[in-house]
Amino acid sequence: NNSKATVDERLRNICQLLEKHIDYYNWVGFYFRNGDKEELKLGPYVGAPTDHTIIPFGKGICGQVAVSNQNFVVPDVSAQDNYIACSITVKAEIVVPIFVNGENIGQIDIDSNTPDPFTEADERFLEFVCAKVAEIL
Ligand code: SME
Repeated sequence: NNSKATVDERLRNICQLLEKHIDYYNWVGFYFRNGDKEELKLGPYVGAPTDHTIIPFGKGICGQVAVSNQNFVVPDVSAQDNYIACSITVKAEIVVPIFVNGENIGQIDIDSNTPDPFTEADERFLEFVCAKVAEIL
């Protein structure tokens, strides 16, 4: 089994690479189901610190993905009523779930300061990233 320190380092490296090389990825982080609780816990991330280290299932974009098991692409965060704002600079968000043995165990969450930047190519790319992440957890 991979030690947690190693896994967290690797996840943080992934966040750093994505944030550094894709100009419209401005906050990149992982949330994981918090044990048996119906909530997400913030994992490794890169970008502005957030107060939202715990997110109940169903709340915000992240909490909705924990329940829906579907990608959630938000072109304009101001048009969402079930949205948790982390920073006023954020214009758009994408959340893609991570599945281990078919179970939704967490997600990658990306905020963008650019309006409507995410395409299906981002979804396919992030699904690939999440599949690779699932292999190292
Ligand atoms: N905006 C997210 C909360 C997490 S922050 O983006 C880091 C949401 O609505 O779930």
